[in-house]
Amino acid sequence: MVIQWYPGHMAKAKREVSEQLKKVDVVFELVDARIPYSSRNPMIDEVIQRKPRVVILNKKDMANLKELEKWEAFFKDKGYFPVAIDAKHGKGLKLVEQAAIKATKEKFEKEKAKGLKPRAIRAMIVGIPNVGKSTLINKLANKAVTKTGNTPGVTKQQQWIKVGTSLQLLDTPGILWPKFEDQLVGKKLSITGAIKDSIVHLDEVAIYGLEFMKVHDYEGLKKHYDVDVSLEADNIEWFDAIGRRRGMLRRGNEIDYEAVIDLIIHEVRNAKIGTYTFDIVNEMEV
Ligand code: G4P
Repeated sequence: MVIQWYPGHMAKAKREVSEQLKKVDVVFELVDARIPYSSRNPMIDEVIQRKPRVVILNKKDMANLKELEKWEAFFKDKGYFPVAIDAKHGKGLKLVEQAAIKATKEKFEKEKAKGLKPRAIRAMIVGIPNVGKSTLINKLANKAVTKTGNTPGVTKQQQWIKVGTSLQLLDTPGILWPKFEDQLVGKKLSITGAIKDSIVHLDEVAIYGLEFMKVHDYEGLKKHYDVDVSLEADNIEWFDAIGRRRGMLRRGNEIDYEAVIDLIIHEVRNAKIGTYTFDIVNEMEV
């Protein structure tokens, strides 16, 4: 799936999501737990404004849990209600409802004080493509409700899905654009599969992944590919060693670098080598 984001699309998507937000009590901002900064829409604060917010760090199964805890603390400090989940395998779903209750407690207490009847909390999911919005909606609904069609903004005909005892969720998520300007963010989006047809070069993405693993998981990297390459060796030596070990050769025994690049990206993307969080909270200007 490729969405081409043009300024006109972006403005429309923002407008549509803002319009939908009026219908809900709380927003579920969905991000990828491996890149909790890089997978956020750059204008998200402007879009959500002061509406209560649950930040859902999805794909927890592929993230570094220690870093994830730091990100949860980071979002809590901002006054949001973070939860880390694994939507694909249905883990942590209850946390979402609990966080929604906490996030809207004040609002509902006020309504009660005014004598308004108790009602379900209304929520919607917002996020960039591929962070798992459809997967989460389907899991929360406990059935296949939606294939979003990946239309930026929000798809038209919508319904409320009943979740647990206290929640109603819009069955179509708000789709907003990723960050484009920053090359490093682009590489992170690509290596996690948020942008598949990459606007960054795949060799650079593979090198980014390799360098990240050299720094954060040197032993795991060597073990996974069964290679013994020194930390000081350059990236070509790594590609050569991995390619040779995996038999990725062209005629004349040349290393098939394209195949090695694809392999590294695919295996990092699917957490085959290790579970990494590429955004380090202390290093980000957020
Ligand atoms: P979107 O609506 O935000 O665009 O994302 P979508 O639900 O389509 O999910 C994008 C990909 O992320 C899907 O993989 C989905 O299975 C995967 N995914 C979603 N949540 C999780 C999670 O918590 N953990 C893991 N490991 N993966 C998750 P896909 O390869 O595109 O499809 P499929 O092969 O899984 O069907």
